[in-house]
Order: sequence, then structure tokens, then C-alpha cells
Amino acid sequence: MLSYRHGYHAGGFADLLKHAVLSLIIEYLKRKPAPIRYIDTHAGGGLYDIGGEMAAKTGEFAQGVGSLEFEDFPAQLQVYGRLIESYLSQERYPGSPLIAADLLRPQDELKLFELHSTEAPRLQALFARDSRIRVSPTNGFLGLLPLLPVQHARALVLIDPSYELGADYTDVVTSLKAAYFRMRNGVFALWYPVIDGAPHLPMLDSIKAFVDSKLWQFELDVRDESIRGEMSSTGMLVINLPWTLATDLNEAFRTITQQLPFDSVKFSAECMLD
Ligand SMILES: C[S@@+](CC[C@H](N)C(=O)[O-])C[C@H]1O[C@@H](n2cnc3c(N)ncnc32)[C@H](O)[C@@H]1O
Repeated sequence: MLSYRHGYHAGGFADLLKHAVLSLIIEYLKRKPAPIRYIDTHAGGGLYDIGGEMAAKTGEFAQGVGSLEFEDFPAQLQVYGRLIESYLSQERYPGSPLIAADLLRPQDELKLFELHSTEAPRLQALFARDSRIRVSPTNGFLGLLPLLPVQHARALVLIDPSYELGADYTDVVTSLKAAYFRMRNGVFALWYPVIDGAPHLPMLDSIKAFVDSKLWQFELDVRDESIRGEMSSTGMLVINLPWTLATDLNEAFRTITQQLPFDSVKFSAECMLD
């Protein structure tokens, strides 16, 4: 049974990196009118209470998005900043499927997977009236493949497991590999934590071994006495990252890293394959 609840971590520095990358990719893909199929294999509950017990318990929101200065937000992330601000004013933080739903257009579609018995119904209720969106309370690793390739459209896939099961690290590789070979021009974004023992490294090595198109890796590394929890670094691996986005992210995180309240914050962007 799954026990991870994203409400404890919503709006932390990991979400900040993940959602900034996601928003920028969506904005870039929207430059063309062709429809986009957005697939979120691990969607979560969709909307989180930042004034409640979960956020207070970890303090991750306060140390992440809660510490950003929106009046001095980087131009490259204005769309994400404005969207987030509108939710923060209601003491809420939007998850990846809600960010995507807000940014995507009428001609786009969203396929969301969420297995948790509490989160899946919340997600279904949140999007019950949006005809662009299908929520499946099933395994996203398995649900991804039949949705690809997409005819006459672009695909954006976010794979964002909680990694609470050790098998997630190998399931990511199996599922991403099959999906990539079905649609080599899709944009695939994978989130990962950097924790003790570095279990993400063999996973990333396996992915790098089969990808033969543009591949970028972004990491946000924070150091501070006050950090609660074991994760001090977080990353995103993106296959077929749209042009100019790495430059935009580098610029944007030059400002963001100064706003985060840690002793040391480092953003890195590495092109693994061009
Ligand atoms: C990190 S959270 C997702 C956060 C969300 N993507 C966001 O950015 O707002 C991971 C979610 O995946 C769910 N989950 C875990 N294994 C899953 C699987 N195999 N298929 C679908 N959902 C899964 C968990 O219940 C959890 O809600």
C-alpha cells in the first residue's frame, strides 16, 4: 500500500525545480497550434493546502516556494510565478496536473495517473468538469505506453514517482525506455531525488545508455543546518528539451537561488547529449 502524500512536500524546493521546468516546456510547446498530449504518470492530489498541518509538519513549503519574492521574479518564469501567486493568495499550491491544466489550451489533452486511494479521488473531483482531462486510478508506469505515439500532436510526459518503493528506480527505466522508443520526438521529463546512497545514479546511467536525442540534466542542491529530511538535492532529466530552455532556466535560477533561504544553493544545468 502506498503511504507517500505529496501534501507534506508541496511547494518545496523540489517542486520549485520540477514545476518551473514543466511550465517552461509547456509555454514553449504552445508556440505552435498543434495539440499537445500531456501525460502525468504520477499526478498526486492536484491541489495542496499550504496553511494546513501537512505543510507545517515538514516546513518544506516555507523553505521553498513560500520564500520566493514575486515582485522580483525572473522574467523567464513569469508565467509560473503569476500562476503560483494566484493560488498562494488562497493558501493553496497547485500540483503538476493543475499547473498543466491551467497552462494548456482547449485543443490539448491531459492523461493523469494516480494510484493512492486518497489522492486519486481528490484528483478526479478536481477535474470532473474538464473534458480535456482523463484521470486513471491505475499504475502510471503501465498506463504510459498505450498512450504513445500520438498522431498529429506533440507529447509531453512527466514521470514523477515518490520513489517510496525501491522498484520505482527500475520501473522508471523500463517504462521510459519503452515510451521513448514509441515516440522518439516526445518530450520526457523525469524528476528524481538525490539521497544517501545515490540510488538515482544507476537509473540515470541506464537512461543515458538508450537515449540518442537531446538530453539535459538539471539539479538544485541546497545545504543548510535547518534542512529537515534526508533530501538535499533534486534533479530533472529532460529528453528532447526544447531549444533555449536551458539558457532560460540558467538565467532564472540565478535569481531564484538567491531568494531561497539556505546557507548554500546551487543550480546546475548539464547537456548530456545535443
Ligand atoms: C511525487 S508525487 C506526485 C506529485 C505531482 N506530480 C506534482 O508534481 O504535483 C508521486 C505520486 O505518485 C503516486 N504513485 C506512486 N506510485 C504510482 C504508480 N505506479 N502509478 C501512479 N501513481 C503512483 C503517489 O501516490 C503520489 O501521489
